[in-house]
Amino acid sequence: MNKTILRTVQAHILMIIAAVSVLLCLPGCSRQAEADRDEKLIRVGFSQVGSESDWRMANTASMISALSEKNGYELIFDNAKQRQENQLLAIRNFIQQDVDYIVLAPIAESGWDDVLQEAKDAGIPVIIVDRQIAVRDESLYTSWVGSNFLAEGQRAIRWLEGTVQQQGRLNKPLRILHIQGTDGATAQIQRTKALDDAVRTHPGWTITARLKGEYTEAKAYELVRDYLSTGDQIDVIYSENDNMSFGAIRALEEAGISYGKDGDVMIISFDAVRDALEMCLQGKINICVECNPLHGPRVASLISQLEAGETPAKLTYVDETFFSSGVLNEELIREREY
Ligand code: AHR
Repeated sequence: MNKTILRTVQAHILMIIAAVSVLLCLPGCSRQAEADRDEKLIRVGFSQVGSESDWRMANTASMISALSEKNGYELIFDNAKQRQENQLLAIRNFIQQDVDYIVLAPIAESGWDDVLQEAKDAGIPVIIVDRQIAVRDESLYTSWVGSNFLAEGQRAIRWLEGTVQQQGRLNKPLRILHIQGTDGATAQIQRTKALDDAVRTHPGWTITARLKGEYTEAKAYELVRDYLSTGDQIDVIYSENDNMSFGAIRALEEAGISYGKDGDVMIISFDAVRDALEMCLQGKINICVECNPLHGPRVASLISQLEAGETPAKLTYVDETFFSSGVLNEELIREREY
């Protein structure tokens, strides 16, 4: 056999050996590769409040996209449908499943001590996102990231003061209809505080009624419709989120009451989701105070810090602003992510 033929035969033999060994290893090796990959995924249980608003949907989308498999996470998502008992159940399930991290977007501030103590006893770090929690022992959670809801409320109030001053009625009577979000949520407590503080310092300002709109359009619509049917006159609607503003606007339209920039009732709204910004640009909503829902990458960054053995900040407030029709344009709205 000459050398060329010999090399060809050897090469064929090697190829056959390689192919056979791949075939023999195939089921076991691929299972192993899969296991290795899964082992590397960080398992996160996320208890979300619900799907009550456009803001919430944008928040959920941001969390799911940041904590995706391609980013190295296995996300176990639970929608609590606006019920705290569902959140308690979800957290206990996450503990049973021995996840690496629990992320909680709490419906309200209180009621977490026991379940978070259980998570702590199981050695699972807890990250709080969006609203805050009030616990006896601050070590029950590792970090929180979200909005400064008091600053949001104060932004709205400063705008209102400036606007009525321009109209020459800063110290004149101002009748405010207040639509509140879910009782006990930080967003509700702090936005309400900003309004209460302002009413105390402006003798002419009164809150004509407080309606519990639960952050949903449907509830706010019903309540505002019934309220307007009493014939009470109002100058301002202070609505603690955009979806409740949409409901209130529907009720105003049905009652034939003008609103917005050139109307009888000023609309102050929180969140600044795309549909609300469009309405603000059209002059239907006077001011949209931004509440940023894009917390997914922020939570992922907190987890990365913990994975690297670092100690992340206990509290992280996100930067926010507000929009009135003067500063808005179609391009700005199009470019926003939510
Ligand atoms: O906690 C944030 C609030 O919750 C948002 O303002 C509201 O839209 C959401 O449902």
